[in-house]
Amino acid sequence: MDGGAGLSPATLTALIALVRKHTGIAMTERKSVLLEGRLRPRMRALQIESYQGYLDKVEQDRAEVPHFIDLVTTNDTLFFRTPQVWTYVEKEFLPQWSREHPGKRLKIWSAAAASGEELYSMAMLCEEFAAANPGFSYQIHATDISRQILEVARAGKYGGRSVEKIQATHPDWVKKYFRPSGDSGGLQVVDALKKHVELAQHNLLVPLKPNKQFDLVFLRNVLIYFDQEHTETVLRQAALSMAPHARLIVGESESISGLNTAYQFVRPMIYQIEQADYHANNNNQREQ
Ligand SMILES: C[S@@+](CC[C@H](N)C(=O)[O-])C[C@H]1O[C@@H](n2cnc3c(N)ncnc32)[C@H](O)[C@@H]1O
Repeated sequence: MDGGAGLSPATLTALIALVRKHTGIAMTERKSVLLEGRLRPRMRALQIESYQGYLDKVEQDRAEVPHFIDLVTTNDTLFFRTPQVWTYVEKEFLPQWSREHPGKRLKIWSAAAASGEELYSMAMLCEEFAAANPGFSYQIHATDISRQILEVARAGKYGGRSVEKIQATHPDWVKKYFRPSGDSGGLQVVDALKKHVELAQHNLLVPLKPNKQFDLVFLRNVLIYFDQEHTETVLRQAALSMAPHARLIVGESESISGLNTAYQFVRPMIYQIEQADYHANNNNQREQ
């Protein structure tokens, strides 16, 4: 029985393959303690004693797959994570985009949204921008592969480190865009932000449906979990959902410049699609 004694090498290899199959995430054998710690409570709840038994359950019972995905994904995030990205969005992207697209609605995709701090950070910036620029409007589409974490984003209730950080960096916006929630200093996002947001489960390895042609795509701190092949697949799929002038934002440690993709470096963490590639890609897509 490998439930109490730890994962056998063969079961670990099979579990890593199953993680890759369902999420694209490339784990190494070094993650065995992490995997054990994450799977054990679920196994206990299901009264499955061995890791092999749980592996069989995931393979044989489709209803278990979403739980497995929830367990193996890492959802760490923060409001206004990587401040220089938000300075770029506020000071450069929004003014330029609205100058070039008068009367149009800005379409944003938070493509690995986790618990939603990223998308509500964007919503707050857009609200502020709209207050100073009447006529500006926006819509945020937020996706993640984990259904469980999307429910947290949908609820928009935060506590702990998330709250401490935003209270320290944006105290005025906390007053404006949150209300108190619970007794332990929690915060709840106001409906004025939520009404601009739609959330859906989506695996980045497959095309997004329907294709919305976003103007700004956040694909941050998720590429690090993929190997090169899957990173290129995810970037190719994302490109199909981007308008010609769109910007892609990746995480701080996720330079994509050396990869075989249609993106052109704009500045650290910011990319756009090379125009020739954009038309080739989209024509090919239409012909298929
Ligand atoms: C570390 S969080 C990043 C959150 C946010 N973008 C940020 O930068 O703070 C990574 C998220 O990617 C999601 N994820 C992992 N594999 C995915 C896949 N194949 N498709 C969609 N989302 C995935 C995880 O569920 C997790 O919520």
